[in-house]
Amino acid sequence: MEDTGQGKDPLEERLKLLRDIRNYLCYLREMGVEGVPAPQGGLTLEDIRREIGDCRRCRLHKERRNIVFGSGNPHAVLVFVGEGPGREEDIQGLPFVGAAGEMLTRIIERVLGLRREDVYIANVVKCRPPKNRTPYPDEIATCLPFLEKQLEVIRPKIIVALGSVAAQSLIGTKEGITSLRGRFHYYRGDTVIMPTYHPAYLLRNPGKKKETYHDMLMVKEKLKELGVVK
Ligand code: URA
Repeated sequence: MEDTGQGKDPLEERLKLLRDIRNYLCYLREMGVEGVPAPQGGLTLEDIRREIGDCRRCRLHKERRNIVFGSGNPHAVLVFVGEGPGREEDIQGLPFVGAAGEMLTRIIERVLGLRREDVYIANVVKCRPPKNRTPYPDEIATCLPFLEKQLEVIRPKIIVALGSVAAQSLIGTKEGITSLRGRFHYYRGDTVIMPTYHPAYLLRNPGKKKETYHDMLMVKEKLKELGVVK
């Protein structure tokens, strides 16, 4: 009779899988294999930065001063992703160092109880769009693979997507930020994403801060579960 898989004990199934993996690893060791490569095969953030090089893959290179790759802890449990560099970021070559950055730093320190150095901060596009316009879909599509690689190297447990461009790009949806925020979504396997309002939007609409505060408390709970904060 065909095995439909129904009626099997899921715990027993999982234990069997673990036993099989252990046996396979023992076999590899006996064969002289001393390690199993990480999914990115030892790729580092520096390698990704090198691959980007003096990028001219899209029109955004024309007016940029600096590529803003990202900064922070390469082993961060928590990564913040914004839309793209603004004026100050373009000048300094660092993400979130202008007014929106000050707001983000306050969120990280005062709400989450972390330091900026504990987290990693990056953007969907790495060059400033002229006059801070929203990046075009083709610009996002060109640059997104580099962010995806950064996330594969860092392997955070939680991503906070700041604003609709980051949320839609990472989740792969056209849903707006207002309906996406306030709940966790999944990003490739066991990483969760919390979309929330962009700090620049909060500067213009301070009445929305309480929603972001709520979203960040959900992130803080997750950090507590992970033993990252008390
Ligand atoms: N806004 C963003 O989306 N990213 C930055 O780095 C700064 C402002």
